[in-house]
Amino acid sequence: MHIDVIYESLYGNTAAIAKAIAEGIHEAAPNATVEVHEASEPPHVAANPDDLVVLGGPTHAWRMSTAATRRNAPRRPGGANADATTRRLGVREVISELTRTSRPCRAATFDTRLGVRWSGGASRQIARQLRRAGYEIVARPEGFVVTSTVGPVAPGELDRASQWGYQLARELVVSGNGAS
Ligand SMILES: Cc1cc2nc3c(=O)[nH]c(=O)nc-3n(C[C@H](O)[C@H](O)[C@H](O)COP(=O)(O)O)c2cc1C
Repeated sequence: MHIDVIYESLYGNTAAIAKAIAEGIHEAAPNATVEVHEASEPPHVAANPDDLVVLGGPTHAWRMSTAATRRNAPRRPGGANADATTRRLGVREVISELTRTSRPCRAATFDTRLGVRWSGGASRQIARQLRRAGYEIVARPEGFVVTSTVGPVAPGELDRASQWGYQLARELVVSGNGAS
């Protein structure tokens, strides 16, 4: 089984969460191949149905980022150092690229968001789009908390991400789908 963890990240927080998720997956399924990809370099693979794509990005304007929200990011308070590469390409573009270049497989989604009641979240929307493209969503979409627009990630969230990745892979192993 092959697992791709793909993330969009302007300030490095979703990147850190993605890496923690990949570590948890690797711990639970040491024989699976696990790769981490940034959104501007999504994998070009014709997936097997039991492969897994884990896709996540930051929450922008309560939902998935758009080209416009990425362009506007540097104007947010303290947000000037947004990564120029990821400002061009995000989760939406990854979904288009995946549906163009690979077969649908299993998927799970996550986002980063502020720890406030009005945060919204991108992960459910990402899951919806992947499901529409034929992917089988195998876990509840999850959100991980950042302390501000630029971060860092809130205390404990890297551990929780690693645990989430562990559980995700563990359930696939236990359900006998070859992740170990
Ligand atoms: C343009 C923009 C809009 C944002 N809107 C929201 C929002 O609606 N809800 C929220 O919780 N966080 C919002 N944020 C904060 C992001 O959640 C935060 O920047 C992101 O999780 C950091 O992840 P990254 O370092 O991977 O980019 C916004 C950030 C930007 C740049």
